Amino acid sequence: MTSAPTRPVLSSSPAVAATTAPDGAAAAPAVPPAMLLRELAFGAACAGAVRAAASLKLADALDEQPATAEELAVRLDVPAVPLERLLRALVCYEVFAATGDGRFRHTPLSRLLRTDEPGSLRDIALWCTEPWTWQSWSRLDDAVRTGRSVFADAFGKEFFQYLHDDAPDSAALFNRAMTQSSRQSAQDLADFLDLAGIATAADIGGGQGQALAALMERHPGLHGTLLDLPKVVEHADPRLLPGGPLADRARLVPGDCRVAIPVQADLYLVKNILEWDDESTRRTLRNLRQVARPGARVVIVENLVDDSPSMRFTTAMDLLLLLNVGGAKHTLGSLTALIEESGLLLKAVAPVNAYLHAFTCAVP
Ligand SMILES: C[S@@+](CC[C@H](N)C(=O)[O-])C[C@H]1O[C@@H](n2cnc3c(N)ncnc32)[C@H](O)[C@@H]1O
Repeated sequence: MTSAPTRPVLSSSPAVAATTAPDGAAAAPAVPPAMLLRELAFGAACAGAVRAAASLKLADALDEQPATAEELAVRLDVPAVPLERLLRALVCYEVFAATGDGRFRHTPLSRLLRTDEPGSLRDIALWCTEPWTWQSWSRLDDAVRTGRSVFADAFGKEFFQYLHDDAPDSAALFNRAMTQSSRQSAQDLADFLDLAGIATAADIGGGQGQALAALMERHPGLHGTLLDLPKVVEHADPRLLPGGPLADRARLVPGDCRVAIPVQADLYLVKNILEWDDESTRRTLRNLRQVARPGARVVIVENLVDDSPSMRFTTAMDLLLLLNVGGAKHTLGSLTALIEESGLLLKAVAPVNAYLHAFTCAVP
């Protein structure tokens, strides 16, 4: 479980009671429940401020030298007063820090919004706060009442259909955000997987193919197949596309894994896709079970909602999945049950990194 972050509070406020650490040292003042709940209810202000910083490329405008709001405003071509108000809000969340002499400097969090930062989260921050998310969150009570997605009611069509038909910029951002996220977990997954005896690997719903490309780079004899929706495969990682360094060992298969998985491989990766409705998961696992030859390995990788160092992050993702696609992040029990129902033999469950678990299965 995570604990509440420490943050600046008005120490002069009579309502703010100081707490004492077990060793007797003065600890951070406690925030009274009534203020804490107000802050929680204003969570949109935090998400909005992070989105504005990402969208304005505020982090790129600041280098290692602290700068005033006026200097940053000139660099961004925006008025200084509202920019300073935005910075002041962000400082409350440790995204940027105030130097005390009217200037602002980077923090580890603000650096992650830079476009040139290795491990940048800018696209992910934008994706998590896209315009359609705000409408979806406001209907969470409906989703809880019905247990179903609110997306079609709000936007007239299913989520991915809407993205591809009506919000191409958002669809492109989704692909970039997935790529950013996959790039970071791809190396962890490559470290985790033992590919002894594996000549061919297929990534089902593999996005643009970051994980597959990382595996193929790590194992020069490995042949890889990427299966994803046609519009995603079209924009696959350049390493896998014709002319790319891995192209002669790569196969790109546009398709819908709920309809068919026309791919033979020794190892099937299924990462972060079995989080939609259970029927889609059943169909995907059934298709895999039908096509995979006995002895093949299936590795399903997911964030678990009952075992994560960041329950705030995982539960937020879980609720967003409910809103958008009627999906859910799994518990250990719920994913195990669906795997067993499909006829795959679950051999092991192990952490890949701090937020992902791998369910390694054998095809009987
Ligand atoms: C959350 S992303 C995960 C991508 C990648 N596996 C990863 O971990 O980075 C879900 C992926 O599933 C793909 N997807 C959604 N519906 C699909 C379907 N019916 N058939 C194949 N892929 C699908 C999406 O295009 C997207 O790339």
